[in-house]
Amino acid sequence: MPDTKYVLAIDQGTTSSRAIVFDHSGQIVESGQIEHEQIFPRAGWVEHNAEEIWKNVREVVGLALTRANLTYKDLAAVGITNQRETAVVWDRTTGKPVYNAIVWQDTRTQKIADELGALGGGADRYKAKVGLPLATYFSGPKVKWILDNVEGARAKAEAGDLAFGNTDSWVLWNMTGGVDGGVHVTDPTNASRTMLMDLDTLSWDADIANDMGIPLSMLPEIKSSSEVYGKGREGGMVPGVPIAGILGDQQAATFGQACFEVGMAKNTYGTGNFMLINTGTSPVPSKNGLLTTVCYKIGDQPTVYALEGSIAVSGSLVQWLRDNLGIISSAPEIEELAKTVEDNGGAYFVPAFSGLFAPYWRSDARGALVGLTRYVNKGHIARAALEATAFQTREVLDAMNADSGVDLTELKVDGGMVQDELLMQFQADILGVPVVRPKVAETTALGAAYAAGIAVGFWNGEQDVIDNWAEDKRWEPAMADDERDRQYRNWKKAVTKTFDWVD
Ligand code: G3P
Repeated sequence: MPDTKYVLAIDQGTTSSRAIVFDHSGQIVESGQIEHEQIFPRAGWVEHNAEEIWKNVREVVGLALTRANLTYKDLAAVGITNQRETAVVWDRTTGKPVYNAIVWQDTRTQKIADELGALGGGADRYKAKVGLPLATYFSGPKVKWILDNVEGARAKAEAGDLAFGNTDSWVLWNMTGGVDGGVHVTDPTNASRTMLMDLDTLSWDADIANDMGIPLSMLPEIKSSSEVYGKGREGGMVPGVPIAGILGDQQAATFGQACFEVGMAKNTYGTGNFMLINTGTSPVPSKNGLLTTVCYKIGDQPTVYALEGSIAVSGSLVQWLRDNLGIISSAPEIEELAKTVEDNGGAYFVPAFSGLFAPYWRSDARGALVGLTRYVNKGHIARAALEATAFQTREVLDAMNADSGVDLTELKVDGGMVQDELLMQFQADILGVPVVRPKVAETTALGAAYAAGIAVGFWNGEQDVIDNWAEDKRWEPAMADDERDRQYRNWKKAVTKTFDWVD
């Protein structure tokens, strides 16, 4: 083990950027967090200012180190994890983004997706190669939109002056030198969310890039999820420190939850909800609306794949109740408000704000709050909003059981919303299996820290992750079967009310 005692993880998420210092036992030492602006230029559009994100990343690293009373010299390595799919296109010569980052929740690429499908094959045109249906969620069509709509962008891209990346690549490029020789790299977990990477070969697919009019020169080099990509630039926040791990945030959480065996799964409750199940070293196609994706690739070891159930809106529904309706003033208050009532009062809230992701993939869906009577009050609405997360998770779990042919016997959970006891109990009730929270619920950042630490020998490998994992709390299902079935039936009926809302 090196003399340095800590690893730093940068978690560049959808709503905030965080830096967390971990010690050798995988415990959090200190952290820093700053939210960034959510830009909604039109209905269905969601953007981030990539320069604001980079500024915040630098600040949170400084905050975490200062609070921990450490300097960069105490760090063995830095790992990066990130919101996936969100597309940044920047000019390599100026270091400036040519447009705001187009966020994974943004639905503006529906027409592009339809046009690509019309070339032949429909929504599943690329599915066998990339594991994904054509949908607004993924990066490739977002890049095409930027090249088609930002003046001069296509010419610059064809001249080799533009670079594309998810926010992992954007942060890495800046950390390692930016215009002065920044490293332009990503890992297979992020690349598997672009619609441009062949899942078997882990390389960019020239035919798909050609369909989308994306020059290959824009794309980052795909390296493993755990190796030294470069070092912090001189004069930067972590000069000379190896940057040695990249995992998309959901895959990082799967790694941090020690889901290393086939059939092990986790569910992360963040802005959206994402359940991943380890399917081993071959990609498994889904017949039930799940995505096939890369789970992780550690150095030269074989690639491990996963099936994923992605839910676009869960925690962001709580934010919406706070920011758009004002019925709570802080996110944790939702639990208090939900506890003022016994049940949902007959109300069901389907938050199809970005269409519906897994298992439906309906971009034409829009949110619906149904079952309303004069009896329903804001407590019931708060409850229905929390329950929406649990019902959506049940749908994804059913799809996973159907795809794998084996029923999950428990679910490991993590992310911000797992502090909400009412939600966790309802989750166990609606799934009918126990829900298990680990002691370190920040498994996203932890997973990225492990990937980086393993690359530099700070940790020896997966066994250290397993040894450090510890259970904090377990919720057992307590709802009668007929009541569970009744509520789930109602939820399914509510979902059908969200379809066909886009002209
Ligand atoms: O695919 C989107 C996902 O990576 C975003 O995660 O935690 O920022 O909601 P989160």
